Amino acid sequence: MSVLAAEGVVAGYGAAEQILKGASVRVEPGEIVTIIGPNGAGKSTLLKTIAGLVAAKEGQIILSGKDVTSADAGGRAKAGIAFVPQERNVFGSLTVAENLEIAGFLDPAGASARAEGLYATYPMLAAKRRALARTLSGGQRQILAMAMGLMSNPSLMLLDEPTAGLSPKAADDLFDAIVALNRDGLPILMVEQHAVEALAVSHRGYVLVSGRNSAEGTGPGLAADPEIRRLFLGG
Ligand SMILES: Nc1ncnc2c1ncn2[C@@H]1O[C@H](COP(=O)(O)OP(=O)(O)OP(=O)(O)O)[C@@H](O)[C@H]1O
Ligand SMILES: [Mg+2]
Repeated sequence: MSVLAAEGVVAGYGAAEQILKGASVRVEPGEIVTIIGPNGAGKSTLLKTIAGLVAAKEGQIILSGKDVTSADAGGRAKAGIAFVPQERNVFGSLTVAENLEIAGFLDPAGASARAEGLYATYPMLAAKRRALARTLSGGQRQILAMAMGLMSNPSLMLLDEPTAGLSPKAADDLFDAIVALNRDGLPILMVEQHAVEALAVSHRGYVLVSGRNSAEGTGPGLAADPEIRRLFLGG
């Protein structure tokens, strides 16, 4: 059974023209799946629709066999979706520990044990637990944002451009952290501008153009496709 099957999703903002015009994406157990596509294609809107922050006007969102299309964002979080948005994904004026505490709201009783587990996995967070989140480097902040998502013990992690604004070295380190998380069994659906690097660590990928699926394939297969390279990967 697929972890996620989003089929024929039509969605947008208000009364304006729909941004997603029938987009579909699937995540199987154990996969890293990456969505690439030009600016404004609707990649972030698709993640937000899967997370329940934008309503699907048509189509279905099935999470591990359960139809969550009409569930709100809280319901989707309870159903196992963790969404790490591209921006404002940590509370800068709170400490690392406070950010994790807030992110544990779905299971307050288990939150402190869960935070301790995350400190063991990410020693940087343990070292910085009393630091304000805004003092972290870009890469450290992304690790904190992912750790906040992990506080709810998700069955699927959505990451919107996790390496945006990072140096090449920090982006590499973050991809390593994403791969390590996936090796522990967590399925991941991410949107990335660093398409070559992201597809290289992905089992499968999708190309989204103007709110519709334009291509799909294995990560390495898409990264090697001449047409995809010409259009999206700078030759
Ligand atoms: N909150 C919003 N209200 C109205 N329109 C929006 C909103 N968010 C995004 N849009 C519009 O929806 C379209 C798709 O935006 P979206 O952010 O999903 O694209 P994207 O593929 O993630 O692009 P990028 O690569 O730049 O992140 C754009 O035309 C954008 O202006
Ligand atoms: Mg976006």
